Amino acid sequence: MPDLVYFVATTVDGRIAAPDGGFDFFPQGDHLGAQVEALPETIPAHARQALGIDAAPRRFGSVVMGRHTYAVGLREGITDPYRPLDTVVFSRTLDPAAAPVRITAEDPVAVVRELKQRATRDIWLCGGGALAGALADAIDEVVVKVNPVLAGAGLPMVDGAFGARALVLGDVRRFESGVVWLTYRRAPG
Ligand SMILES: NC(=O)c1ccc[n+]([C@@H]2O[C@H](COP(=O)([O-])OP(=O)(O)OC[C@H]3O[C@@H](n4cnc5c(N)ncnc54)[C@H](OP(=O)(O)O)[C@@H]3O)[C@@H](O)[C@H]2O)c1
Repeated sequence: MPDLVYFVATTVDGRIAAPDGGFDFFPQGDHLGAQVEALPETIPAHARQALGIDAAPRRFGSVVMGRHTYAVGLREGITDPYRPLDTVVFSRTLDPAAAPVRITAEDPVAVVRELKQRATRDIWLCGGGALAGALADAIDEVVVKVNPVLAGAGLPMVDGAFGARALVLGDVRRFESGVVWLTYRRAPG
């Protein structure tokens, strides 16, 4: 069965964005090339086009995100940011007919369960923290891209009810930029 993978950039103190949603403080560096190489489908489609990246998706067939995350591209007129991935946006306020992606107010856990049953490739949980909080129990793997930044405040990578879920450390990748990718799997049992 496909995995739900939370692949996300954070500061050392676990923030995925500034309090106002901005994220331009995340540094550039060699980790970005590694992301293009390993998971080109996680680079927004318009950036892929601008950079001449035409690699096919390597791991994911679909992506799920909350409305605030979707709004980042929408503000620039981008309505299908991770084409060709199947995109599901969770929102109780957006008009489902107004976008070329699936917009739903259904329970994220139920939607992901259904996606896992019919998907043939892994599902990327793009963010943000609110959606990750709703889906915390459905996450199979977390790949946290820890950036060498202390934010002090900002949006948390998981914003939900408390629940300490044990994880098992897998791969660790360290970059010249000071970024470290940590891969964790949900502990068995
Ligand atoms: N650093 C990274 O790698 C990364 C990755 C992704 C996002 N981000 C940043 O994260 C920020 C957004 O994160 P966020 O935590 O504020 O918001 P979010 O999770 O992206 O979106 C929250 C919205 O999603 C909808 N939603 C959430 N739970 C739902 C549920 N159970 N059922 C139906 N709809 C649900 C609601 O939309 P409605 O209000 O419309 O109902 C809610 O307001 C942005 O600034 C983005 O740039 C960073």
